[in-house]
Amino acid sequence: MSKKFAKNILCIGAGYVGGPTMAMIAAKCPQYKVTVVDINREKIKAWETDKLPIYEPGLLDVVKIARGRNLFFSTEIEAGIRESDIIFVSVNTPTKTFGEGAGKSADLQYWEKTARDILKTAESDKIIVEKSTLPVRTASAMERILNSNDKGITFDVVSNPEFLAEGTAVIDLEYPDRVLIGSRETERGRRARQEIVDIFANWVPSDKIITSNIWSSELSKLVSNAFLAQRVSSINSISALCEKTEADVQEVARAVGFDTRIGGKFLQASVGFGGSCFKKDILNLVYISESFGLNEVAEYWENVVRINEYQEKRFVKKIIQTLFNTIANKRIALFGFAFKANTGDTRESPAIYITKQLLEEHAHVVITDPKALDNARIDLTGAEGTLEYEDDPYKAAKDAHAVAVLTEWDLYRTLDYNRIFESMEKPAFIFDGRNILNHKKLYDIGFNVYPIGKPELTRI
Ligand code: NAD
Ligand code: UGA
Repeated sequence: MSKKFAKNILCIGAGYVGGPTMAMIAAKCPQYKVTVVDINREKIKAWETDKLPIYEPGLLDVVKIARGRNLFFSTEIEAGIRESDIIFVSVNTPTKTFGEGAGKSADLQYWEKTARDILKTAESDKIIVEKSTLPVRTASAMERILNSNDKGITFDVVSNPEFLAEGTAVIDLEYPDRVLIGSRETERGRRARQEIVDIFANWVPSDKIITSNIWSSELSKLVSNAFLAQRVSSINSISALCEKTEADVQEVARAVGFDTRIGGKFLQASVGFGGSCFKKDILNLVYISESFGLNEVAEYWENVVRINEYQEKRFVKKIIQTLFNTIANKRIALFGFAFKANTGDTRESPAIYITKQLLEEHAHVVITDPKALDNARIDLTGAEGTLEYEDDPYKAAKDAHAVAVLTEWDLYRTLDYNRIFESMEKPAFIFDGRNILNHKKLYDIGFNVYPIGKPELTRI
């Protein structure tokens, strides 16, 4: 039987990482057959339509290049494992909610389940690629489970963490800053690593493909997210100081970021960082450090999360204090619920905490977002109080005492704020949790304006 494809690649987990990364590999490498499997039937079905299960700019175009040609979506996990030469595992690795390490360490049950599925089903040697973000030294556990087989099969475990950010996943995958591939420094390990290098070499310049030992690779992923989150917490901590001193956090960030040793990216003060990974990965780092008795190291990183929680709390407190210390029965419109612009993802979005706190205070909360209302409804299931969801930001703001911008969607920059002001209760307040609006213009319209880390523009 002639083999149509040079290699069969399988990906277990068709989420925010598995779907886009495999779509890109398939689009760039027509010589490989790429199959993405998941236990979630609905998700797999959606990947086969033009209404993909995640919102990601440009993704449908990439999927369409390869789908049905060399990119396939399926729930036949066992068949997929049997046919494959290389298996990427990109299942979720959330924070553990129970038992030892609850609230900090990674819950590896989905990960281990895939290892056991592979062990049970595989009939030939395979390269297993850790795509999920995992605690350092997970590969060692994976190897122990897999190589406990008595079928005479050998598995090589390689680490290839993913660095894409949501909202820019397609660009990040097509033009990555780097691709990192870690393996055991043995003859076999290096050979397996080279196979993964060869995949990415189809479109990524060789100087951007970095190889390392497997533990460095696993740890680098956690550290990358920790450093990124640390920058956000650093500038957010300074935003609090700016609000007390009439300094302007954007001017400070600009001045600091001009130093090429520091750089200007990721210094945008905000209502706080969200997303499925920053908090989880830092807590994972904290847990690992603690488990080695490195308590000072653990505390250092835990403070990045604490400052984030402080920033979210500060924002809610500012709203309550400004609205004369009571928001009971006051309509407050939240512009944006996604954890950042250009995604419908709301995992760990500051908007979740903020909405719940406002409801606690008996406010009447109206949420609007161009892509995230379905997820918002799920996140707020069971939340008690007066809560509305509204597609149209103008309707959301009508009769509101305050508008709070929580996501930096471009849409909110270009709304007709004269119209919004006219329709609101007076005095009208606007809290710009992303510093994306023209504050002077809003003030001239008549708003009382409360940015993050910048002087307030207020008439009362
Ligand atoms: P996700 O929840 O969107 O997707 C994970 C998928 O795995 C789900 O569809 C789930 O049904 C499936 N799954 C779980 N157990 C399974 C099993 N035994 N067999 C088959 N399918 C199974 O998660 P995600 O956001 O794609 O994240 C996956 C991993 O990638 C995590 O470790 C995360 O930390 C990491 N990561 C995520 C991002 C991101 O932007 N979301 C970026 C880089 C790295
Ligand atoms: C982040 C990393 O950027 C990716 O490299 C990584 O692969 C991914 O986590 C992951 O491991 O899941 P993501 O969470 O999708 O990606 O989005 P980011 O752009 O990093 O933003 C995270 C949060 O920080 C958002 O809430 C964003 O609004 C906030 N942020 C970011 C700021 O408040 N200020 C900034 O200057 C930058």
